Amino acid sequence: MAEGPLVAVLMGSKSDWETMRQCAEALAQFGVPYECRVLSAHRTPAETAEYVGQAEGRGIQVVIAAAGGAAHLAGVCAAHTLLPVLGVPMESASLKGLDSLLSTVQMPAGIPVGTLAIGAAGARNAALLAVAILANGRPELREKLREFRARQREKILRESLE
Ligand code: RP5
Repeated sequence: MAEGPLVAVLMGSKSDWETMRQCAEALAQFGVPYECRVLSAHRTPAETAEYVGQAEGRGIQVVIAAAGGAAHLAGVCAAHTLLPVLGVPMESASLKGLDSLLSTVQMPAGIPVGTLAIGAAGARNAALLAVAILANGRPELREKLREFRARQREKILRESLE
């Protein structure tokens, strides 16, 4: 896929990378070009708005935003773009990510954020959902997704027989 980045993977802090590297790895596995940025809804509000506001013009088609605690990053991103925004709640020390989940998922009607599971599962699934969105117009990517599902199915069936 010889294109510029199609997916923007944003996170509120470098401390989110340990989890979000799984998102990046899954995108790479499908050959989807992406870029990663640390941008905070609270600590770099102007830069976040500027980056997301310019994303569509730069060819980005899906924004993935991960944050923990009072996790407003995905909602702020969604407010500044028409692109689909997928939110990944980071596991937090104090409330195990329940705070992040509720902050990300409970968007008032009008500005949607597609929220995934807390932590690593959400990070990987955000990538897989981004792949599914991009695959709508890319038959070769759709085929890769079909093969991934088939491999996953075969693995589970093998495990059940062991
Ligand atoms: C959020 O606060 C970040 O997304 C991170 O999950 C959390 C903690 O950030 P640090 O204190 O580790 O920078 O904004």
